Amino acid sequence: MLKRPIIIDTDPGIDDAVALAIALYSEELDVKLITTIAGNVGIDKVTFNALKLLNYFKKEVPVAMGAAAPLIRPLEDASNVHGVSGMEGFDFEEPTEDLLLEENAVNAMYRVIQESEAKITLVPIGPLTNIALLFKVYPEVKNNIQEIVLMGGSVTRGNKGVMSEFNIHIDPEAAKIVFDSGLPIVMASLDVGWKALVLPEDSAQLETMNDVGKMLYSLFKRYRGGSMKTGLKMYDSCAIGYLLKPEMFETVDTYVDIELNGSMTTGATIVDLKGYLNKPNNAKVCVDVDQQLFRDWLLDSLRKCN
Ligand code: RIB
Ligand code: CA
Repeated sequence: MLKRPIIIDTDPGIDDAVALAIALYSEELDVKLITTIAGNVGIDKVTFNALKLLNYFKKEVPVAMGAAAPLIRPLEDASNVHGVSGMEGFDFEEPTEDLLLEENAVNAMYRVIQESEAKITLVPIGPLTNIALLFKVYPEVKNNIQEIVLMGGSVTRGNKGVMSEFNIHIDPEAAKIVFDSGLPIVMASLDVGWKALVLPEDSAQLETMNDVGKMLYSLFKRYRGGSMKTGLKMYDSCAIGYLLKPEMFETVDTYVDIELNGSMTTGATIVDLKGYLNKPNNAKVCVDVDQQLFRDWLLDSLRKCN
């Protein structure tokens, strides 16, 4: 079966690490390139974390470093959630930089997309700065992009601002460029991320499952996206989950805009479920997830990370 070619744009990040593991070991996905974006922690750290993970997974996927800051606003990181390094909790071997390309993320994405015979799916699981820059510098690249399956936004409330989810909150202008791109978008929102939980009985299985499970279990002890006891939020795995098992999700085709000027709501995804704005649909929004199906899928997927 032909593997689906994807590019993952990421800010690892402990929940990013889970999503990357599942994607890299999947029989159905061909990860052509990993690009890094400042988000959970700074650009050098997220890039180093991506290299550490690839070295640990023994997967040879090229990495290209992306933007060190949002388009306009200063970076606000999430080191309180992921630790100072961005992947606190496991002592990784020092990776080489063999997989790190000279090219920046935008040029590397452009090259890989244009060289691909099959249309590429973009999978952003961090702030959308790199994707916005790609579309501004090389608009023609949209012709060879299948769709964008992103983790970000919220139908209801936020986790960084009252109404704004972290990835969109950090760079709302970039998000606006992406949601206005005209490309098909799947938005794995906070509303599913909050329900996509690794429960204590799941974490316990991870610890003895395999080397990847053992490493993730160690990271989970430090991860503050929920807790081992109440459940750990696998935000970014929802984007990969949609690619591999879309039936886990309830989706709505609707219009999504990004608030850029609200004194208290900037970064909010305005999900116009009732059509008040009278705009054509531009996104398929994941509004619910079958929690048991997700847990079973996540554990089955991590069992394959051998
Ligand atoms: O709001 C959750 C998102 O912010 C996830 O991508 C997590 O890794 C952080 O980047
Ligand atoms: Ca992320």
